[in-house]
Amino acid sequence: MERETWGSKTGFWLAAAGSAIGLGNIWRFPYLTGANGGAAFVLVYLLLVFTIGVSVMLAEFVIGRSTNLNPVGAFAKLKGGAWPIVGWMGVAAGFIILSYYSVIGGWTIKYIISSFTGLISPTTDTTSYFLGFIGNGPQTILFHALFMAATIYVVYRGVGKGIEGWCKILMPALFLLLLILIVRAVTLPGAGAGISFYLNPDFSKITSKTLLAALGQAFFSLSLGMGAMITYGSYISKKVSLPQSAATVTFLDTAIAFLAGFVIFPTVFAFGIQPGAGPGLTFITLPSVFAMMPGGQIWSALFFLLLFIAALTSAISLLEVVVAYVTDAQGWPRHKAALVIGAAIFLLGIPSALSNGAVPINVFGMGFLDAMDFLASNILLPLGGIFIALFAGWIIKDIAKKETTSEGPFPLEKVWMWICRIVAPLAILIIFLGGLGLF
Ligand code: TRP
Repeated sequence: MERETWGSKTGFWLAAAGSAIGLGNIWRFPYLTGANGGAAFVLVYLLLVFTIGVSVMLAEFVIGRSTNLNPVGAFAKLKGGAWPIVGWMGVAAGFIILSYYSVIGGWTIKYIISSFTGLISPTTDTTSYFLGFIGNGPQTILFHALFMAATIYVVYRGVGKGIEGWCKILMPALFLLLLILIVRAVTLPGAGAGISFYLNPDFSKITSKTLLAALGQAFFSLSLGMGAMITYGSYISKKVSLPQSAATVTFLDTAIAFLAGFVIFPTVFAFGIQPGAGPGLTFITLPSVFAMMPGGQIWSALFFLLLFIAALTSAISLLEVVVAYVTDAQGWPRHKAALVIGAAIFLLGIPSALSNGAVPINVFGMGFLDAMDFLASNILLPLGGIFIALFAGWIIKDIAKKETTSEGPFPLEKVWMWICRIVAPLAILIIFLGGLGLF
């Protein structure tokens, strides 16, 4: 059977951006920035994204397009030995991330509905509203189930045209809505303090924990370190420039996260919310802004609908990595793989759904959801990133050269190579060990 490819270069860019842009940009990035002291975190994040992040993304595209295979198969074909373990680690990371990602995805569904049923009103205390909801076990499990069902449905139907077509319309819509919200947020009385928190760095706030959080966020937001971009790269036609693609996707993803900060932080300060409020930050601040806008219920429903869709296009890429591997390696039909794996991921997500107030479930001194997130984002993804960079820089040098220059010269080829060989692996290793408190 002829392997599918993306319909066009733009179609591929938007699908890859669809994977990258999701809850990571609008939920995770602002709350981590708030919890890690603001502007200094943002600066470190940007630095890591445009050195290590973009380079690892290019490495993933190279591995994917040169083999047209899933991550495990790609490493096996290019080199074999112990390398496919990197692919397996990625499959495991996809499984773990999706289990709690779907719980947060469920929150967005709840908030679409709640926009019309009491959430958006000047008298609603949005903090209590949020805590009340996430502490309600049956409800959070129900919405987690709905989100997972939507993800399974798309992957079950096959990703081909569906994802690409949706992303082309919905990603620009999300962007426009963010711009409207920025105008509303920065003109709130008291917005200035938020902008200053977001843009005036206080370097004393940078600790080894901040660095690891920023690194984990870079991998999480760009969908790196677990083979999602290897899988998407495996559908790229030979006529697309990979360096240009990595630069474009990285830029789009970072732009959306950066813009989201201009909605969240002015609002946080205007309404006297704590910037370090944690995972609820976006869900607590945004309803307050909507309540102040004429037609706030509609804006709110529209926004959470777009956020749901952004989350869905990311969730699909997570499930697709696991499904692609099981269909290739175990020979399962796509339908069976999507259903069985999707159900298993739903089950693993239940403790994450319950651990935010309903039932105390703690691992490593954190709630279950936070522990899963820490394990995947701050451990599995950076480790995957080290090996992916080393692989592109040392093991498949000639292939890497050919793939990155397929559409003309790549002026930064040497720089990219040395980032993959030395800079990225070393920097990730140092940040990783430091952040875990190992030196
Ligand atoms: N990048 C997505 C987000 O920001 C989440 C995601 C999708 C992801 N696929 C991934 C994270 C692969 C890590 C690896 O919401």
